[in-house]
This record gives sequence, C-alpha cells and structure tokens, in this order.
Amino acid sequence: MSKVHAAITAVQGYVPDYVLTNKELESIVDTTDEWITSRTGIKERRILKGEGLGISDMAVHAVNGLLKKRGITADEIELIIFCTTTPDLQFPASANILADKIGAVNAWGYDLQAACSGFIFGLTTASQFIESGRHKKVLVVGGDKMSSIINYQDRSTCIIFGDGCGAVLLEPNEEGNGIIDAVLRTDGSGRQYLHQKAGGSVKPASIETVTNNEHVVYQEGQAVFKFAVTNMANVAAEIMERNNLTADQVNWLVPHQANKRIIDATASRMGVGADKVMINIERYGNTTNGTIPLCLWEWESQLKKGDTLILAAFGGGFTWGSVYLKWAY
Ligand code: UT7
Repeated sequence: MSKVHAAITAVQGYVPDYVLTNKELESIVDTTDEWITSRTGIKERRILKGEGLGISDMAVHAVNGLLKKRGITADEIELIIFCTTTPDLQFPASANILADKIGAVNAWGYDLQAACSGFIFGLTTASQFIESGRHKKVLVVGGDKMSSIINYQDRSTCIIFGDGCGAVLLEPNEEGNGIIDAVLRTDGSGRQYLHQKAGGSVKPASIETVTNNEHVVYQEGQAVFKFAVTNMANVAAEIMERNNLTADQVNWLVPHQANKRIIDATASRMGVGADKVMINIERYGNTTNGTIPLCLWEWESQLKKGDTLILAAFGGGFTWGSVYLKWAY
C-alpha cells in the first residue's frame, strides 16, 4: 500500500473590510508612507472593527467558505487545530468556540501557540493525525486579530501588523501529494526580543500592567530582524537540501509575511526567482498566524496538482520552520 500523506484539499481566507493605510498611520504616529514601504514593503493592512468580535469570528467566515467550497458539512470535521496568538479568551480554546459557532459537533480541537510560525507548526501537527489513520478530515486554522494587542502609539510595531485569518482542510492522499517533510525549530532564549509582558501567569493583568501598556506586542525590531533573516532562509535551504530539491523544482515559496526584506533574502538563499514567491504583505501586513494560509488562498487558482511548495516562517519565541508539500488538486 502506498504511503498516506496529509494533503490540503481546500483553502479559504478572510480579511476584515476596514483598510488601515500608511497614510492614516501618518496621522496617528510619527511615520511616513515612504519609511514603511521601503523598510517593510507594507502599504496597508486590515483591521477588525466592531464590539465583541474576535479571531473566532474571522475564522467562521474562512471555515464556512472552505466547507462550501469542498462540499462538506461541519459535522464531518473530526479535529480542529486553531493556530493563534490572539485567542478570543485565555480559555476555553478558540477551537472550541469555533466548533460551536460553525456546528462542528463531532470535532475535538485545541489551540496551538507558536507566534508567527504557528500555522506551519499546526499543519505539521495535524498531518500526524492523518498519516496515522486516526482522522480523515482535519481543519487547520491560522489567524490573528493583532490589532487587539498592538499599541497604536508605538510606531515600530503598529505599522507592521494587521488582522486576518485562513483555513485549510487536510485529508489523506495516496497519490504522493500532500505534506512530505517539515523542519521545525524553537529557541526560547529569543523570547526577550519579542513578547507580551503581561497577561500571563507570571504577570497577571492589573491596573498597573494596563497603565504601563504591558498587554501589547513588545518587539526589538532589529534583533528580531537579524534572527529572522538568517534562520528563515537557512531552514528553507535545509529542507530543500535534505529532499534533494533544486530551485528549478520548487514551484512556489510561501513565506511568512513579516518584512519584504526577509522574504527576499529567503528567496535569494533558495535561488528561487521573484515570480515564484507569494507576496501579499503590501495589502495585509503581518497577520501572524494568518499570513501563509492567506497566501495559499489568494494563489489557489494558480496552483496545479503536483506543484512543489516550500512554506517558511519565523516568529516570536523564537520559533521558525519550513514545510515541503506537494499540492494535491
Ligand atoms: O513576524 C514576527 C517576526 N518579526 C519580524 O520578523 C520583524 C523583524 N523586524 C523588522 O521587520 C524591522 O526591524 C522593523 C520593520 C520592525 C524596523 O525596521 P528597521 O529597519 O530595523 O528599523 P530600526 O528599528 O533599526 O529603526 C531605524 C530608525 C530608528 O530611528 P533612529 O534611531 O535611527 O533615529 C527608529 O526610531 O527608524 C526609526 N523608526 C521609524 N521611523 C519612521 C522606527 N519605526 C519607524 C516608523 N517610521 N514607523
């Protein structure tokens, strides 16, 4: 019997309507469209507006669209892995909330937290349940409402992040397509450069933490940039080497969208031309767990069965990694 791979059989994304442009940011913090564009590649990002709306509400749009596209109903889903750094609540998991909202009454699920690398960590985790034969339909959701943890007075972070969410369905494939390999890494010593200072068990929320603005993203941009640019490129090159893939054999690089300069460095290290790189950072900024599924969604019509894709990400923690997969439809 041929080996069972976990293949993506449907993808769908959702971004909220509100467009926060560089021009608008110029009126909020001391910045310019020129600085943001040249340093990051971002022109605008989406923001989820509206009282009482969280990441699960964006996920509902993405997943309902995905189910319709695949022609299945929510009760057929067996497992939901929700990759997010901005869950609706500390607990219960957003996977539970999503299951309830879409009517996935037969699914179990949990949240996975690996900052910007969350989606590829989730994809790899989910693939194990398919390969083992345990499950036949697994949803991997990746998304964030980053605007809920951004300080819009901090010009070094508020220009980067945006809100958005994507979802993929994984199913067994015996034609040799699907997730072939993954290289995943973590280095907790990097946590000092990118984290949220309060709201966890070390420093629970208090009047003081709120007054000091400690429930927002803290980032030492230059330090993170140095680690990201090296490690994302290295891990993408490593997965190519160990699978004997040449640049010609790679059809698409699907990079985490944190900074256009990091994406360019990764593509160049792999020897992959710009025409093979999925980039939508100019429209959405960094949606953390959402970047890679949103790219897959937007490029879906250009993907062909058997295409070789390399996914690569780097994020807070530090976390980073790469996934090699063959498109299945
Ligand atoms: O996805 C999770 C992982 N995160 C990342 O991968 C992010 C990695 N880091 C980056 O992408 C970049 O470091 C940033 C985009 C965050 C910042 O770009 P940079 O080129 O590293 O700028 P910098 O922090 O070195 O700052 C350079 C200058 C500073 O001014 P001085 O000290 O040279 O006078 C900053 O104060 O740019 C200033 N600056 C800004 N100026 C205008 C910082 N932010 C802004 C801004 N507008 N928005």
